[in-house]
Amino acid sequence: MPATPTSTEIARAAAILRAGGLVAFPTETVYGLGADASNPAAVAKIFAAKGRPQDHPLIVHLAGVEWLPQWAREIPPAAHKLAAAFWPGPLTLILKRAAFVPDCVTGGQDSVGLRIPGHPVALELLRAFAGEAGGRRFSGVAAPSANKFGRISPTSAEHVRAELGASLDAVLDGGECEVGIESTIVDLSRGRAVLLRPGQLTAAQIAAVLGIEVEAPDAAAPRAPGALESHYAPRTPLHLVPAAELTARLAALRGKKIAVLARAEAPSGLKDIHWQAAPRAVAEYAHELYASLRRLDDLACDAILVEAPPDIPGWQGVNDRLRRAASN
Ligand code: TXA
Ligand code: MG
Repeated sequence: MPATPTSTEIARAAAILRAGGLVAFPTETVYGLGADASNPAAVAKIFAAKGRPQDHPLIVHLAGVEWLPQWAREIPPAAHKLAAAFWPGPLTLILKRAAFVPDCVTGGQDSVGLRIPGHPVALELLRAFAGEAGGRRFSGVAAPSANKFGRISPTSAEHVRAELGASLDAVLDGGECEVGIESTIVDLSRGRAVLLRPGQLTAAQIAAVLGIEVEAPDAAAPRAPGALESHYAPRTPLHLVPAAELTARLAALRGKKIAVLARAEAPSGLKDIHWQAAPRAVAEYAHELYASLRRLDDLACDAILVEAPPDIPGWQGVNDRLRRAASN
């Protein structure tokens, strides 16, 4: 068990952020790579550390809804409803940006992604960071997932240190992330609700609060480049295999070194196959998913076969990440 960061460590991390440094911190979804969102030089360090294309917008993390008007110039009633229902929590809202928001944060778009994360360490860090000093206002921490561009998001501080350690000024260790996959992203910047990225929080839960349908992205929706194919990918080729075809696929790959991630029990008599059991329930499955994929990737197998989970709404976030991991 990692020790929870002390208030002194969190205050020091907040001071690093105010001074333009990079701090990795835990959220309930995945670890974030944070910088002062109002400081373009600090934000540039995020892109450099991740190797991320410059036009990819970042999510701005806030300590509370009182900071929303600083970042968004229009806050529709739907945003207030979703904020009340799900924040702090695994939800990102896309709203019309305030004029001052740096282009490097929005990817040059007219919108900004905002989220109040549901993790005590993240919230304490954001509260310690927010305020005024030296004639400047601090409140938003821009933070993408703390992984190299295109790779699997980190769900523990060890993942972060292993991948980005050298480029960070501090890492706050808050243990394993509870949710395990990135936040659900809903665009509210155009007078409707559009699901840009599925997550643990489902479209049905959001629609129930709003009383309107949550739509799929259309051609005019804001770009969400995290929704690129071949994202969240291990280095080992990953194949998503329907449960009924798993045995036949394994037989066809005999002689190769194969890892399997499956909710089904391992058949007996398998040789040279590393079988990783996955939880039956979606919450536990998502919680363990990225750590399992990293572990299986480290075995340097010829392929990772993942038994396809059920294709039902509650699994949309997990299925989305697996589909992307398989598209490499
Ligand atoms: O759970 C999460 O959301 C984590 C934690 C750290 O909060 N963060 C995360 O950030 O997943 P990142 O950068 O890996 O993914 C952010 C996603 C990208 O798909 C990006 O395109 C989208 O948010 N995004 C951010 N601002 C946007 C905007 N203004 N319009 C459309 N999409 C936006
Ligand atoms: Mg990411």
